[in-house]
Amino acid sequence: MQISFAPPASVEAGALVLGVFADGVLSNAAGAVDRRSKGALSRALKAASKFKGGRDETLALYGIAGFDQIVLFGLGKPEDVDAVRLQRAGGAVAALLNHAGIGSATAQFEGIVLAGHGAGAAAAEFAFGARLRAWRFERYRTKEKAEAKPSLKTLVVQTSDAAAAKKAFARADAVAQGVFLTRELVSEPANILYPESFAAKAKELADLGVEVEILGEKQMRKLGMGALLGVGQGSVRESQLVVLQWKGAGGKRKGEAPVAFVGKGVTFDTGGISLKPGQGMWDMKWDMGGAGVVTGLFKALALRKAKVNAVGVLGLVENMPSGDAQRPGDIVTSMSGQTIEVWNTDAEGRLVLADALWYTQDRFKPKAMVNLATLTGAVIIALGTDHAGLFSNDDALAERLAAAGKAVEEKLWRLPLGDAYDKQIDSDIADMKNITGSRDAGSIIGAQFLQRFVNKVPWAHLDIAGTTWSGKDTPTVPKGATAFGVRLLERFVTDNYEG
Ligand code: BES
Ligand code: MN
Ligand code: ZN
Repeated sequence: MQISFAPPASVEAGALVLGVFADGVLSNAAGAVDRRSKGALSRALKAASKFKGGRDETLALYGIAGFDQIVLFGLGKPEDVDAVRLQRAGGAVAALLNHAGIGSATAQFEGIVLAGHGAGAAAAEFAFGARLRAWRFERYRTKEKAEAKPSLKTLVVQTSDAAAAKKAFARADAVAQGVFLTRELVSEPANILYPESFAAKAKELADLGVEVEILGEKQMRKLGMGALLGVGQGSVRESQLVVLQWKGAGGKRKGEAPVAFVGKGVTFDTGGISLKPGQGMWDMKWDMGGAGVVTGLFKALALRKAKVNAVGVLGLVENMPSGDAQRPGDIVTSMSGQTIEVWNTDAEGRLVLADALWYTQDRFKPKAMVNLATLTGAVIIALGTDHAGLFSNDDALAERLAAAGKAVEEKLWRLPLGDAYDKQIDSDIADMKNITGSRDAGSIIGAQFLQRFVNKVPWAHLDIAGTTWSGKDTPTVPKGATAFGVRLLERFVTDNYEG
């Protein structure tokens, strides 16, 4: 879909898209159409009993005011219009147009403003939402009929400051490209995306100026990463550790310590010898969601040339059962020197992150370290799919992350850490075990385990098991891979680390 911005002008062809506020109050552009049509638009609105101009509402009208199609979107009260609401409107409209077989549309934004921003900002947010929703994973569809495919080819958004809208959208579109890379990685099946092929995809970011290093098993063994390597040892695929560096801070901040992002990248999680049941196991192709988010984030940061020093570390492994696989009860030595009794080979994400986190803080001395992981089924029991779990050893960091999540509608909910939980993973014969043996507080126990590998660096863990994949469409996120975390962390960087 091609998106462009233009100054207000009359619309000759394609669908016309207009905003309506709460209680059916017409935006300026909609009012103009209504006057030209001698009230036909407001009469149609009255007849449509369900559409009231509330947020998230849309309505398609046919044959009104000389237009084949008019699509209305609701915004609620003008004073409540924020970026998320505009993005959701854009997404809902894009979905409607795509389903309706409409190829081109023009949205008129006169009279719709985003509080605190100049003209053009509202149009850009709307376009961003349309962009986010219209993405689709197409690679493996070979037989879809043309008429079943999304129809929308061009979207023009008219605003009195088209230049400002274009500029704001360019930045948003960089974020969208990061989101799409993540969605693509997360959607790919595990026969296509395995540690080496994932690393090769990450390597492509070098074209954008990201420094990319790939460590194989030999190098990781030298570093003493017994925890990560143990997880991958049953797979024919070689484990990989990918290190991304974006050095965007300039001037006095050039040598500044980075902010670090670490992702769990289990390209498939069978559970290993502690094998998962077959039902639903296909979902475990997206157990690399954390690493997928970190990769997409770096694409976004590089595309928009973020003024930040950032490090990304991806722990990439495949967790398979085999004659070579790690056994329950095995004891491994992590890079930190701490030993781990592996009671359950399905609690593998924490083993991968143990070495990835230790390596990250040891090498980069980051000012903050955030990891993302589809770590526990228990976080889905606790929070469902509307919030990801947030754990942190630093209140200020936790608050910054929660605020960023709120701003982009990728919500976090903080859960506690504490000594009473921590001591439950003490082992009788090693420094710790990777599970407790009880189902109590499963997500917290996972987080406590990770905390033993962060060495007092300000750190946060986002458990994204419930938010990485969605069974239903939302206005800005089509069902499937959500890329939850990319927009959040991009915002987190913008608000806190760009000087
Ligand atoms: N990758 C899973 C967690 C998961 C479950 C993610 C469902 C997404 C959807 C993780 O590796 C795992 O298997 N965790 C175990 C931990 C348990 C053995 C302590 C779990 O949640 O059951
Ligand atoms: Mn597992
Ligand atoms: Zn897993």
